[in-house]
Order: sequence, then structure tokens, then C-alpha cells
Amino acid sequence: MTRLNLAILISGRGSNMEALLQAAENPDFPAKPVLVLSNRPDAKGLETAAAAGIPARAIDHTLYGKDREAFERALDAALTEAGTEIIALAGFMRVLTPWFVTRWAGRMINIHPSLLPKYKGLHTHQRAIEAGDAEAGCTVHWVSPGVDEGEIIAQAAVPILPGDTPDTLAARILPEEHRLYPQALARACHKIRETSPHA
Ligand code: GRF
Repeated sequence: MTRLNLAILISGRGSNMEALLQAAENPDFPAKPVLVLSNRPDAKGLETAAAAGIPARAIDHTLYGKDREAFERALDAALTEAGTEIIALAGFMRVLTPWFVTRWAGRMINIHPSLLPKYKGLHTHQRAIEAGDAEAGCTVHWVSPGVDEGEIIAQAAVPILPGDTPDTLAARILPEEHRLYPQALARACHKIRETSPHA
């Protein structure tokens, strides 16, 4: 089986990226990492990726000022040059324009730390606690033009416990993210294979 060329977009710590890289060490995993890109040159995940032998580079969004599309054209050029066939957003903190999302439609997935459709956007853990929810979790979904709105691929839930803070809840969800994301990425690869078998 040929594996889909995977690019991972990050902005910081990169623990989800690391989970994907580890899963992809198995030669039977349906994606092969070809590139890690960060919009922040100081992202810790860039060092982790480079240490794992994956080409890793930054495209600093601040150099493009308010011109989001110019930044995204630079991203797109790097992705295309690497032969990217599927993109996994992993803690990538830039909202993408409809131009970029449309260009990679059906080939880009994201992990979000809430049980979507609840709590799109930021501060998900705090909002779940404040709402008095019994559980919280994470979602992997296809990326569509509306932020955190694309079709859901997989979810995992954890309980919210008395006394939870956003930090304790995030720490309970994070291992679930690391478990869920590789599984969901594999599912996404199979879907791409089904719909474009020669890709
Ligand atoms: C994760 O909680 C992810 O769900 C969210 O941002 C965080 C990134 O963490 N989108 P990491 O960089 O993968 O460690």
C-alpha cells in the first residue's frame, strides 16, 4: 500500500504532532510524514520534528502583516513542493481563509479540544466547566470554511470532575487527543483512498 504524504501544521508544543509521527513510524500506517510547518519560528514542536528526522520549517505569519492570503500562498507553496496529499492541523493557531480551505478541501483535518459542535473556538475547557457539563473531550474533523464546523471523523469523551480547572481538564483530555488523532487520521486517509483511488 502506498502511503499518503502527510504535512502537519503546528504553532507550539506539538504533542499531537508527536503522536502522529509516532503512529507513522509503523510502516503500515496509511500516512507518511513529509513536512512539519509552523507559523511560529519558536514552536517547540519544530525541534521535536527535526530530531525525528522530518523536514521541519517555519513560515512566520508576522512577516506577512495583515495579508493572510500571502502567508497562505507561502504555506501552499511549501506544502505542494513537499508533495503533500493530506494535511493534519495540530494546534495550528491561525484561522485559514476560504481560499486555502477550498484548495485543500477533503484533504485537511483538525483536532479540536471539545465535543463539537459544542465550544468552537478558544477556551473550550473553561467554557465546558462553566456550563456545568458532565463531560468534555476532543474531536477530529474535516476542515471546512466555518471554523471548527467540518464533518466529524471521530470523538473521545472524558468526565468533568468536581474541582476541575481548565488545566486539570485539559490534562485529562490531552492523552485522549494523542490516542484519537492517529486513528482519525488513518480513517481520513482511507476515505481519500476510496474517493480518489489513484491519488
Ligand atoms: C491541543 O489541545 C489541540 O486540540 C488544540 O491545541 C492543542 C495543541 O497542543 N487545537 P499540542 O501543540 O498538540 O501539544
